[in-house]
Amino acid sequence: MNEILVTAFGRIQMLHYPFYLKEDESFEERQQNLIDHCISYIGDLREKHILEVGCGNGLNCHYIEGRYGAKRITGIDLSDENLGIARKHVENTKISFIRDNAQELVHIPDHSMDVIICVESAFHYPDKNAFFRQIKRVLKPDGVFLIVDIVRLPGDAGRSLWFWKKSKLLYHADEMEYNQYSSGNNLVFKHRENLTDRIIRGYEGHVSWINRNNLNLINYLLMKLFTILQVRFNIAQLKSHKQYMLFYGGHRDQA
Ligand SMILES: C[S@@+](CC[C@H](N)C(=O)[O-])C[C@H]1O[C@@H](n2cnc3c(N)ncnc32)[C@H](O)[C@@H]1O
Repeated sequence: MNEILVTAFGRIQMLHYPFYLKEDESFEERQQNLIDHCISYIGDLREKHILEVGCGNGLNCHYIEGRYGAKRITGIDLSDENLGIARKHVENTKISFIRDNAQELVHIPDHSMDVIICVESAFHYPDKNAFFRQIKRVLKPDGVFLIVDIVRLPGDAGRSLWFWKKSKLLYHADEMEYNQYSSGNNLVFKHRENLTDRIIRGYEGHVSWINRNNLNLINYLLMKLFTILQVRFNIAQLKSHKQYMLFYGGHRDQA
C-alpha cells in the first residue's frame, strides 16, 4: 500500500480513510482531518505520553507531534516494512517506534500511558479481547483511549469472502462485541460516534486526487482505475454491512 500511495501522490501518506470537513480538500488533508477529529476528544497533549497501537508507517505520530506536541509518543506495529519507514525520521523527535503485537504489548510497562490511540488497525486483531486487556494494563488510572475501527453492522455474519478476509487478516467485530470487550475488562466508553457519513463524503472528489506526477500515461490511467475501484469497494462496504465507528473511553472506576 505504501508503494501504491507514493506512486499515486508522489510521497508517503497515512494509511487510513479520508474524513470530510469541507469541499476541495486533498486526500492528505482529509486523512489529517480524521486525526484532528480524534485529538479533539482528547484535548491538550503536551504533557502526555501517547501510545499509537498499529501505527503503520508512522505518519500519524509525526503529524501529532508536529501539530499538537506531546511529552513522548510511542508507536507500535507488527509490520517491519512500516516500521522501517516510520523510523527514518525519528532523530530529534520525541517519537520511538517498536515492533510489538497489539494483543500482547510486551514492550509497554503497566500504567505507563496517558493516551492510547488505535486508528484502523483493530479490525486486524483476531483476539480483540486480548487487545482490550492490554489497554486496561498499560493505561494510567486517569488515562484515555480512542479507537477508530470499521465494525460489522448487526446482521452481518462477516463470513462472506472468508478466504479473502483471511488472507488480509480481517476480523471485524460488531458494536455489541466492542461493548463486551470494554465492560469485560473494566473499561468504559464515554463517547462513541458513527463517522460513516463523514468517511463516505471524504471520498468526494477522489477522481481528481491522482495527478500525473512522473507517471507515464498508461500508469496514470491504471492508477486512476485502481483508485476508483478501491473507493467504490470501500464505500459499498460502508453503505451495506459495515460502519465506521469511533470509541473513546477510560477506566470504569474513573468514569
Ligand atoms: C490500515 S493500517 C493503519 C495504520 C495507521 N494507524 C494509520 O492510520 O495510518 C493497519 C496497521 O495495523 C498493523 N497491525 C495489524 N495487526 C497488528 C497487531 N496485531 N499488532 C500491531 N499492529 C498490527 C498493520 O501492520 C498496519 O500497519
